[in-house]
Amino acid sequence: MPSDKTRGADNTGFGEAREADPDALRAAMSQFPTGVTVVTSGREERAEGMTANAVLSVSLDPLLFLVSVHKDARLNPRIREEGYFAASILADDQEGLSRLFASPERSSGLHAVHSLGGGYGTTGAPLAAGAIAVIECELEATYPGGDHDLFLGRVVEVRLGDTRKGPLVFHEGDYPIIKAAPRAGDTGAFVDSVRGFDVRIQRARDRRRR
Ligand SMILES: Cc1cc2nc3c(=O)[nH]c(=O)nc-3n(C[C@H](O)[C@H](O)[C@H](O)COP(=O)(O)O)c2cc1C
Repeated sequence: MPSDKTRGADNTGFGEAREADPDALRAAMSQFPTGVTVVTSGREERAEGMTANAVLSVSLDPLLFLVSVHKDARLNPRIREEGYFAASILADDQEGLSRLFASPERSSGLHAVHSLGGGYGTTGAPLAAGAIAVIECELEATYPGGDHDLFLGRVVEVRLGDTRKGPLVFHEGDYPIIKAAPRAGDTGAFVDSVRGFDVRIQRARDRRRR
């Protein structure tokens, strides 16, 4: 018999369908690996930063970029008030920064700017030193998104950092290590062409947390 939360097996090959609830959506989306950013706004004492993976490059003409921020997050009113934000795309050696800026106990203001370590961008938003890229936006529009708000930004500045570093990846609630797998015929070296890049996600559950 199907449980309360399942609707029973059907012929789709997916096993039991689950009732759509927050846990079900979270479980499905945890199977969708994403990069990780720290989104920031405000200078000095007004600085705020928050780890975010609900970010999206929306349009190239005009250049538009979107971030989804929970209504209760400290960053939410700050983006509205300041009218700009920056998204620093984290590198694979920045798991600690991701954890810090996802923690409700983290500092705001100058402490946050110091932790990020990258000074201020053109908009005035603090940047994360060591990020592989930074996208800075002026706030163009705000849309309701349930318990989140969707901040649509006009991209005004883009910076690339050390792109030889890999991206920090979030998957199944953790930060897996991504390795390039050598193909048959290659002499054991990393294959760094885009086509030859066979990305393998290794679950890092047993990896010691920092
Ligand atoms: C990898 C990762 C991605 C996240 N992405 C988002 C996001 O896109 N939007 C959001 O509102 N919160 C996101 N969060 C949660 C916030 O970082 C976290 O809840 C933060 O504490 C919220 O800010 P607050 O402490 O001011 O409430 C994410 C957390 C993690 C670990």
